[in-house]
Amino acid sequence: MNSNFVSVKDFKEYAHSVLPRNSLDYYRSGAAEQLTLALNKQAFNKLRIRPRMLVDVSKRDLSTTILGEKVSMPVGVSPSAMQKMAHPDGEAGNARACEAAGTIYILSTLSTTSIEDVAKAAPKCVKWFQLYIYTDRAITRNLVSRAERAGFKALALTVDAPLFGVRRADIRNKFCLPKHLRLANFEETDSKSTKIQSSKEGSGLQEYVNGLFDASITWNDIAWLKSITKLPIVLKGILTKEDAILARQVGVQAILVSNHGARQLDGTPASIEALPEIVKAVGKDLEIYMDGGVDEGTDVFKALALGARMCFMGRPALWGLATDGENGVKAVLNILRNEFDYALALTGCTSVRDIKPEMVVHESFYSRL
Ligand code: LAC
Repeated sequence: MNSNFVSVKDFKEYAHSVLPRNSLDYYRSGAAEQLTLALNKQAFNKLRIRPRMLVDVSKRDLSTTILGEKVSMPVGVSPSAMQKMAHPDGEAGNARACEAAGTIYILSTLSTTSIEDVAKAAPKCVKWFQLYIYTDRAITRNLVSRAERAGFKALALTVDAPLFGVRRADIRNKFCLPKHLRLANFEETDSKSTKIQSSKEGSGLQEYVNGLFDASITWNDIAWLKSITKLPIVLKGILTKEDAILARQVGVQAILVSNHGARQLDGTPASIEALPEIVKAVGKDLEIYMDGGVDEGTDVFKALALGARMCFMGRPALWGLATDGENGVKAVLNILRNEFDYALALTGCTSVRDIKPEMVVHESFYSRL
C-alpha cells in the first residue's frame, strides 16, 4: 500500500483502478440516476461546524458505548455483500480490521465468508449480523441461531429491501457472483441460495432477491423476529419519523438511519438529512445510528452533533479491502479515527459527550451574510 494514501478518497481512487468492472459497478452504484448517491455526500458538505476555542483538549477520548458494548470510536463498518469480490481477505479481513480498531463490524447475510468463519477470524470484534427475511422462514431462523451461537451481539434487520433498487450498471453488466465464490451462509449443495448467476434479464442479484426474499414482511414480522431471538434488534433503513415511532412501538433497541448506500430508491433524502427528524421523534428512547456518505472524520462529527450515536460506512471499507485486504481496511479506519480526533480537538471537544447540537448548522444559517 502506498504511503501517499492519506484520505479515504485515495483508497477509493485506487480501488476504482484495480477492481473488475462487474464488482466495481456493483459496489459503487446507487439506484437509477444516482441523485441520492450524490446527495449523501452533498448534504454533509452543506453542513458547517461551529468550533469552540480555548478549551483544554490535550487529552481526548474517542470511545463510546453502543448497545452496552464499549467501542473505541463512533465509526464502524456497515454491511456490504460479497466482500471477497474486493479481495480474498473478504469479510474475515474486514472483521479483523474492525477488531484491531476496536469497533463494530456488521456482517451481511449475503457474505462470501460464513458466520462461523468470520467469528473464528475475529473473535474479539463486536460483530452484528445483518438479516434479510427469506420467504422460507426456516432459512432466516437458521441464520439467526447461528449468529447467536457464533457470539454476534445484535441483528441489523434490513427493512428497506422488499426488492432491490434499480441499479442500471448491474443490469447492463448482467451482474453475477464470480464463479469461484459463493454465498457462504447457505448449504453448499443448495445452488439456488449460494450462487448469484448472470441472468438473461439483467442483474443476477435482482433475480436472486425476487426469488428468495419475502416482500410481504410488515411490522408484525418484527414481533416474530423478537420471538425467535434474544439479541437486540437494530432496524436498518428507516428514513422517516413515522416509521421511527412504529419502531419504538414494536420494541426494537435501535435504528440505523440509512438509505442503503442510496441503492434502493433514488430521490430519497440523504441519510444525514433524514437523521434529525428521527432523533427528535425517538432519540430519547432508542439508540440512533446513521450510514451513507461518511468518508471524512468531520462527517462523523456532523452526524454526532445532529444526534447520531454512531456512524457506519460501507464503501470506504471496501475500497480499503480492494487496495490491500485487511491492512487496507485498517488504514481506512485509522484515517477516520485520526480525522475524527482532529475534529474533536479543533472544535474544543475532549469526548463525544462534548459534541453539542449547536456546533453544526446548515449552510443557510450563514445566508444572511
Ligand atoms: C445491496 C444489498 C446486498 O445493496 O444490500 O446490494
